[in-house]
Amino acid sequence: MKEQLVTKKILNWYDLNKRSLPWRKNVSIQKRHYYTLVSEFMLQQTQVATVIPYFNRFIKSIPSLEILAKVNNKKLIKLWEGLGYYSRARNLKKTAQTVIKNFDGKLPNNFEELLSLPGIGNYTASAILAIVFNKPYIPLDGNIERVLKRYLYLKKVKEIEKDNLIRKKSIFGVSSRSNDYAQALMELGALICKPINPLCNECPIVKKCKSYQKKDFDLTKKNKKNKDKYFILKVYKKNQRYLLVKNTKFNFLKNLTIFPMEELFEPKNFSENLNFKMSNMNMNIKIQYLKNSGKFLSPHWIDEKKLDNYILPSFTKKIVRYLEGNL
Ligand code: ADE
Repeated sequence: MKEQLVTKKILNWYDLNKRSLPWRKNVSIQKRHYYTLVSEFMLQQTQVATVIPYFNRFIKSIPSLEILAKVNNKKLIKLWEGLGYYSRARNLKKTAQTVIKNFDGKLPNNFEELLSLPGIGNYTASAILAIVFNKPYIPLDGNIERVLKRYLYLKKVKEIEKDNLIRKKSIFGVSSRSNDYAQALMELGALICKPINPLCNECPIVKKCKSYQKKDFDLTKKNKKNKDKYFILKVYKKNQRYLLVKNTKFNFLKNLTIFPMEELFEPKNFSENLNFKMSNMNMNIKIQYLKNSGKFLSPHWIDEKKLDNYILPSFTKKIVRYLEGNL
């Protein structure tokens, strides 16, 4: 396959500069399937540096697809604790079960069947096809999107629509090393074409980069403002223990253990306001201290001193630390 110049330049740069990441190790085919699946699920909403220790712990504790398919949910969530977006972990397990049941334990090698698996969308399907099966797919993640927008100087609303970006990414060409090429483009975005202060002097494709020619590296921001939401969070403490409940009410942190909360549907100017960003919302939280625990069904009691022994979302742990004056 004759590669375009841009493809060659990016791959040459990657060969010299790629990070050694645990899921990029040279491993058996079976492990490559499993490592890619786990890492791509983790990387869906989380940055590489955060994912590395989680990935290593996960693989050590659940070393194969077969073990993952049977893993106890508590152990699974514990291993995911802190990464957030827990539905990814549950979908990962379901995908492992489906792959074993319907695909003889091997990831399917086509787009439609990959898309049929829980938690796998266009992006992850493309990443798996490129990285595992060496097919000429380029997954359009945030990093690659940025390289593309800068290289072609795409700033107008119409230009940065997803469909247009998907069309335009063909300018990157194709390589017979598709598995490396997908990761080379991600790496270029992560290490060189950074959101602020891109390192243009080290960029292998700077010569034809339109943003570089114009000396304008600003990216048009999509108007995806986090929504402000307002909650009352109820704290009841007895004998050093906090009352928590299983969250069956809110779409975030679904089925996980949280402090009882109520959403207010009107903006409120709280005097003491805890602020969290989660799932595209900006949570404004007012704490209300309760005098009794009467109305909560199936409460969980957690000991403030043994926080690390519980499977709790980091949101809940942060609230406890705040209440204990340690945040
Ligand atoms: N982001 C998503 N997939 C990745 C990968 N395989 N390597 C680095 N960053 C990524």
